Amino acid sequence: MAGATQHAHWSSKWAFMLAAVGSAVGLGNIWKFPYEAGQGGGGAFVLVYLIFVFVIGVPMLVAELSLGRRGQMSPINSMAKIAREEGRNPLWSLIGWSGVVGAFIVISFYSVVGGWTLAYMAKSAMGAFSGITAEASQATFLGYISDPVMTIVSHVAFMGITIFIVAKGVQGGLEKAVTLLMPALFALLLILVLYSAFNGDFVTTLDFLFNPDFDQLFYKETVLASGEVTRHFSLDTVLQALGQSFFSLSLALGSIMTYGSYLRRDVNLGKSAVIIASADSAVALMAGLAIFPIVFAYGLDVGQGGGLVFMTLPIAFGQMPLGGLVGTLFFALLAVAAVTSAISLLEPPVSYVAEKTSMSRRKVAITMGVAAGLLGVLSAYSQGSNLLSDVRIFGVNIMDAKDFLTNNIMMPLAGMFTALFVGWFVSRKAMMDELALEDRSFRIWYFLVRFVSPIAVGVIFVKIIFDTIAG
Ligand code: TRP
Repeated sequence: MAGATQHAHWSSKWAFMLAAVGSAVGLGNIWKFPYEAGQGGGGAFVLVYLIFVFVIGVPMLVAELSLGRRGQMSPINSMAKIAREEGRNPLWSLIGWSGVVGAFIVISFYSVVGGWTLAYMAKSAMGAFSGITAEASQATFLGYISDPVMTIVSHVAFMGITIFIVAKGVQGGLEKAVTLLMPALFALLLILVLYSAFNGDFVTTLDFLFNPDFDQLFYKETVLASGEVTRHFSLDTVLQALGQSFFSLSLALGSIMTYGSYLRRDVNLGKSAVIIASADSAVALMAGLAIFPIVFAYGLDVGQGGGLVFMTLPIAFGQMPLGGLVGTLFFALLAVAAVTSAISLLEPPVSYVAEKTSMSRRKVAITMGVAAGLLGVLSAYSQGSNLLSDVRIFGVNIMDAKDFLTNNIMMPLAGMFTALFVGWFVSRKAMMDELALEDRSFRIWYFLVRFVSPIAVGVIFVKIIFDTIAG
């Protein structure tokens, strides 16, 4: 049986840091963050987001890493083991279950969007955006996501890459991939930011991203049936920033806990968490600095939502000098970021099944990857006017339903219970030993994780449930 003795480890701190940053930096940073900032009014969203990342995200990263490292097993078995050692209810292992199952669901649709990035890389390289109009760009995207063959080809390609890496194991797969891909990601991002700085509207972008307009954050406008516009106080954007900070840091779905389980005791978790969060935020901001100058320079709409990257940007790529190349590099960047996150989503289920069965890691990776891939077909077919686009679960399509279940239910619940567990149910002494922080840092961390994180996350959850029932 594969037990603690066979459990793999990172070969160095550096390898761990690259992998953890690779997990955090993904579609969340380059696709979601810019469009959420665009919809949330720019600077104020960015500021609130950064506060959440450092006040709530960093302590949660520390909590998850410490549980993984102490448990030295998959999230399910790590949680069960620590609960046992602390004399607590075995049901605490449900946090691990939620992570493993949640990660399995997320990878199933994350891979679909990962496939879009591959397809768009190819389209851009073949000159498909050259001189494209807004209508044509929209039609291209809708046509693509509605195509039952092409969407599956790209989804299978993306999942295939992910499986290939995970099958090769922690040192032979994950580490090798991130040491190759993460430097490439930073290089691509830098090239694109420089391109935008010289060719786009950088001044407007700086004002947009870093000059907060708090009205936009707390007030929402609703257009009444009469055509009248009313403004009312709303916390939606603030809560969205909190949810986004969790998603972007890969929290509460077992990714970080699993990566923590491959750590040895000589790594300083507090420092690591600060570095991971800083790198993740830096990439999100740089993605904004790469995208918005183009959006502003070409007079495009910043509040486009999920279409910002796939429908809006190609219009600019089609007009700008070297647009085909810039577009290809941009979608390559997105694909690289997505792959290094996808492996961290496949890893929690794979680590659990590898522990439970005598199957080789390779077989487990293929089995779990193919299973998630099949589940993902439902998501791919739920888009545009594709085969299953009419199927509605609680009023939304399959992809959105999975996103809602994981992002709005499983992640807040798992996050809240993780904070409560380490803050109230693991002995303070054990946490002090595990973290080995200096006294003051420990006190700050302990306060945040006992009170601030569970309350903040609890509030989001209650609000989500309330909105869902009311709406
Ligand atoms: N953080 C990644 C992104 O920004 C996605 C991701 C990977 C993730 N692992 C996760 C999100 C675990 C939540 C939980 O795209």
